[in-house]
Amino acid sequence: MAKLSVRDIEVAGKRVVVRVDFNVPTEEHEGATRITDDTRIRESLPTIGLLREKGAKVILMAHFGRPKGERNLKYTLRPVAEHLQGLLQHSVLFSEETTGDVPAQLIAQMRDGDVLLLENVRFHAEEEANGEGFSQALAQLGDVFVNDAFGAAHRAHASTAGIARFVGRAAMGLLMEKELQYLEGELEKPARPFLVILGGSKVSDKIGVIKALMKRADVFLVGGAMAYTFYRALGIGTGKSRVEADKVDLALEILALAKEKGVKFLLPVDNLETQEFSATAQPRATPLLSKENGISEGWEAVDIGPQTITLYSEEIAKAGTILWNGPVGVFELPPFAKGTRGLAEAVAASGAVSIIGGGDSVTAVKQFGLADRMTFISTGGGASLELLEGKVLPGVAALNEK
Ligand code: 3PG
Repeated sequence: MAKLSVRDIEVAGKRVVVRVDFNVPTEEHEGATRITDDTRIRESLPTIGLLREKGAKVILMAHFGRPKGERNLKYTLRPVAEHLQGLLQHSVLFSEETTGDVPAQLIAQMRDGDVLLLENVRFHAEEEANGEGFSQALAQLGDVFVNDAFGAAHRAHASTAGIARFVGRAAMGLLMEKELQYLEGELEKPARPFLVILGGSKVSDKIGVIKALMKRADVFLVGGAMAYTFYRALGIGTGKSRVEADKVDLALEILALAKEKGVKFLLPVDNLETQEFSATAQPRATPLLSKENGISEGWEAVDIGPQTITLYSEEIAKAGTILWNGPVGVFELPPFAKGTRGLAEAVAASGAVSIIGGGDSVTAVKQFGLADRMTFISTGGGASLELLEGKVLPGVAALNEK
């Protein structure tokens, strides 16, 4: 059954406590904290805007970093409140305390449409322990709870799940709704062929996703260091490349499963290999790989090769739905970014429904300036992986049914 949405509830004049994911990357610049990517903050604006329009008092709560249950001002959300104020063009109150009299007094002075951000919920050990007392203290600040923090929905914490037990109504926000629509709804009956691009360094990180998607996908394109564990399983030389030696049996199991299900499961047919791991390295392409012809002794593979880019791009051009999780090379270093860029360009040009499932692949697509050409880009890392694995997210489960 569908969850209750923020669109379905009456909020005029009410205090609405909204959990958002403001866990954004920052850097210190001339003594000030600068947000280097504010996507998550921007993505929460539709929900905040809707609530303000409907005349709610909007009380935002979020975590930032991992302060381990202690008040540590390195992880204060104050710079985020200032940033949000600029985006909203409306003042954003900031409460230095997360619960208790300090926020309660500020909230009492709020007018309908006003916005307040509470200090980092993770300054309290009870947050991650999903403590009842803290959940209740958060719930007391509002009349209604809205969870829009998709990126943190895989955590069963007080502010993501516990609070829902102590409020009148618990609904999902617009971002949460959109994430679930693309990462769940859209993939239930995908336009076919349904193609999955899987990269990243470890097979072990993606095993749950592979097994879950094997039931639904038509084609898998594998890249990144996880491919080399499959090579090892197939007896192809891996040189000095990263291999999870203890996952070779698992790789064989996956290959057998693909065969049994008639799923096309492609591994790179060539790679770029290097002896130097730096931004000025000049990697060379391996020949077409075979049992006799693997990655060279003493060399490390760092990207898919040109023949693989062509082969994979042809598959991508035929796809109806594309789900991408994980880069296919060390794209952070320009000499090793060609493969990931090539596939991103092919996805952008494909005309398919393209869903970028969180984490490093999102960073890559943004870095190449291709984010606007994708159908949907998830704001969740761990959360999107767990959802794709078919797991129930505690932050979603806790919400009321429609
Ligand atoms: C994220 O950045 O992936 C989420 O905000 C969750 O953060 P966490 O991994 O510290 O729980």
